[in-house]
Amino acid sequence: ARHFAIVPAAGSGSRMGVARPKQYLPLLGRPLIHHALSVLCASPDIDKVFVVLSVDDAEWSRHDWSVLGGKLVPLFCGGATRADSVLGGLRAISKEAAASDWVLVHDAARPCLAAWHIDKLVRELAHDEVGGLLAVPVADTLKRADDHRHVAATVPRDSLWQAQTPQMFRYVMLRRALEAASDVTDEASAIEAAGLRPRLVQGDATNLKVTYPLDLHLAEWILQNREG
Ligand code: C5P
Repeated sequence: ARHFAIVPAAGSGSRMGVARPKQYLPLLGRPLIHHALSVLCASPDIDKVFVVLSVDDAEWSRHDWSVLGGKLVPLFCGGATRADSVLGGLRAISKEAAASDWVLVHDAARPCLAAWHIDKLVRELAHDEVGGLLAVPVADTLKRADDHRHVAATVPRDSLWQAQTPQMFRYVMLRRALEAASDVTDEASAIEAAGLRPRLVQGDATNLKVTYPLDLHLAEWILQNREG
């Protein structure tokens, strides 16, 4: 089976408090999304990298992506939610992808993806029936709040994991699950809603998602201090 990456990048980035969509914010002299795309394109495990952009994306064409080579394909078919964008991407590649090909969905907003993350995910899931996702065990004690912001419960953290991306599933299984699901914030929840159990593959905290301005500084530090 082949491995395709789909990178949803059609969000507006409203929580960053800036007008520019966060995938294009400058990070070490390159657009934020360039970092993850470059790691995905360089991976010997990945056959092609599809970036799902908003239909009215005005910025993609202003940058030079040619250094990333021929694996990279932009698709201007983003949707109203992240799940719609991913589904749009899956539909757009239906002629190319076979039912059993793997699809790795990775957030444009996770610029510190490392080669070993992809390698570990692909190796650990190669013979899995369902697929799975990178994740890290939760470190903090978690509280559930009531309507008045008092603690209603302490949630035991021993079996809790934070979901990351890439999330890797078979093309047809993922497409069917997303077509049937509503209101999911990641691919794994759509697969779970279909009654299946994605496997958790332990990644690490460096693969953070840039949501708030502080995350951009952390990402910069991580990228600058990475070996190799
Ligand atoms: O907003 P959030 O950080 O959850 O977005 C996660 C990823 O989903 C980002 O890469 C964002 O660009 C993408 N997205 C999308 N289409 C949307 C909303 C978000 O591709 N409608």
